[in-house]
Amino acid sequence: MDPGEAARLAAKVHGTDFSKVPQFLDISPEAITAQVHAVNSNCKDDRTKFIFERLITHLHDFVRETSLTTDEWMTAINFLTAVGHKSSDLRSEMILLSDTLGVSSLVEMLNNAKPPNATVGTVLGPFFTNDAHHLQTGESIASEGKGHYMYVEGKILTTKGEPIPGATIDTWESDGDGIYDNQYENRTEPDCRGQLKSEKDGSFAYRAVVPVPYGIPNDGPVASMLGHLGRHIYRPGHLHVRVEAPGYETLITALYFEGDPYVTSDAVFGVRNSLIIKSTVVEDPEVTKARGFLNTSKPHTYLKHDFILPTVQEAEEAKKALKLKLKSHL
Ligand code: BEZ
Ligand code: FE
Repeated sequence: MDPGEAARLAAKVHGTDFSKVPQFLDISPEAITAQVHAVNSNCKDDRTKFIFERLITHLHDFVRETSLTTDEWMTAINFLTAVGHKSSDLRSEMILLSDTLGVSSLVEMLNNAKPPNATVGTVLGPFFTNDAHHLQTGESIASEGKGHYMYVEGKILTTKGEPIPGATIDTWESDGDGIYDNQYENRTEPDCRGQLKSEKDGSFAYRAVVPVPYGIPNDGPVASMLGHLGRHIYRPGHLHVRVEAPGYETLITALYFEGDPYVTSDAVFGVRNSLIIKSTVVEDPEVTKARGFLNTSKPHTYLKHDFILPTVQEAEEAKKALKLKLKSHL
């Protein structure tokens, strides 16, 4: 093939300028990393070029460092293929892989730095939906019979302790069997989830059920990976909360329960110390009745927590500070 034809073919699909393509002949274990960087150097987007440069460097170093065998590499390829095959519009085994390797949590922490007294965020998880019913203060997010009663209340506050009225609070949880409504095939309407607004004094309150620990899907390659690694598949019980208010940084977080057996070994690294709350048990039937629970002979769990939102500007400053701190550690 003459050089003119080669240049025409190179330009055909991506418009590659063949005269700028780095040329190399002698590929070796030592030289290949620089050669891949060179061949990627015509990338027009600086951020993409940088990310690939770092990814290739770490991948190649990983292969050299571990002296990866052909069989091991094929095992990895087959595993990633299985992760792809198990994924669908309804289930992302790929996200589960990122979660269980701690990558989702790391990305979350790097991108959501907060000032010291603000409520910390955590992973959104795969079970949020947009169709939750709108509730008034004190109403229930869970239908009767979904689990052990729980009453949740607190305030939405600024970092200076002032109330934030009218904040939109989305909250969702597993039921008493550790299952989210959208994991049931016959789901007809939202349950164990709701949306409400904070009151003038920043307060909110709702009835719910006690969320229990549950296992991440156990029928896929990620669960079998955890088995090979000698890990369990469980998440501690938790209550998801998302708070949005104009002018403030949106908070995506969850509350965990002191004493939960999995709170110190969450399969997806979602727990943060400050999000572990001590709940109490209320035995007084009068209080149970006043809070609107149907069966007043049963005690209920009480969970109280305030959520502190930084302004968008306060959050930006915290993000900048974290970036600087991480740079000085590199
Ligand atoms: C959850 O929050 O429910 C969740 C998060 C990550 C992976 C699986 C579940
Ligand atoms: Fe969850």
